[in-house]
Amino acid sequence: MVQRVRKAVLPVAGLGTRFLPATKVIPKEMITVIDKPVVQYAVEEARAAGIEEFIFVTADGKESIAMHFQPHLVLERSLEEKGKTTELNAVRNANLPPGKAHFVKQHDPLGLGHAVWCAMQLVGNEPFAVMLPDDMVLSKTPCMRQLIEAHAKVGGHVVAVEDVPREHTNRYGILDVLEDDGKIAKAKGLVEKPAPDKAPSTLAIIGRYVIDPSVFPELDKHTKGAGNEIQLTDALNRTIEKVPFHGLRFEGRRYDCGTHLGFVEANVAFGLANPAMSDKLRVIVQKLLDMK
Ligand code: G1P
Repeated sequence: MVQRVRKAVLPVAGLGTRFLPATKVIPKEMITVIDKPVVQYAVEEARAAGIEEFIFVTADGKESIAMHFQPHLVLERSLEEKGKTTELNAVRNANLPPGKAHFVKQHDPLGLGHAVWCAMQLVGNEPFAVMLPDDMVLSKTPCMRQLIEAHAKVGGHVVAVEDVPREHTNRYGILDVLEDDGKIAKAKGLVEKPAPDKAPSTLAIIGRYVIDPSVFPELDKHTKGAGNEIQLTDALNRTIEKVPFHGLRFEGRRYDCGTHLGFVEANVAFGLANPAMSDKLRVIVQKLLDMK
């Protein structure tokens, strides 16, 4: 019987260097796509997948992330008195229940594996989700729910994957595929950011994982890998003999908010998917394209 996934780890300690000067004061996870900070999309996706508890791995200067997910009683009271129900609901929707949001500091940015290791005590001995908020997914079924459903069947580690152009393999964790039925691929190994000519496949991990706690003893070794960082991919790879590792080709589209173009693309895509503005936005985009 596979244990239920109740907790999600959100690594949000990065400096957001690529988005300077926007991220000089505002954490990059707090930058908005349409009307919500990027990190809220990840939290909503996880909640829609049944996740109840959130562990944010954060850093100094990122206090606004914690503030965003806690009640703002003065604001809520004022909106209530004015009868601004829509706005009140929007504010309250972001509140996480008491005791369900934890914040742990990663004082040194030593890599994604190290960030996840920082959450070890708070996760304990149960399978958990990892969500990288930079990767946003538009799908009918929330991407994390698709992973949790697959995990209930196959257990072990299950990550979201997509095929990438071979020249991009050096941006991702790449699967060395053992079996592949076109939907779910079982890996016999993983490589972090291989050069295109060294990549064992073009099947890339995107920022959604369900991870078996057996990864923690490996992360605890603090072994450095690609880019001289403690890599989550490497720790997962070292458990692969004992714990099955599957990549799920999820239904939906991923937008990489870690780059300027991907961020603009995400805004347009989420806008077009939003019934309140899609028709008007379509006209605007068309007008812009028609401009010489
Ligand atoms: C991280 C992981 C990588 C994964 C990617 C997905 O890399 O290390 O394995 O494919 O996220 O976005 P980063 O983008 O932090 O360099």
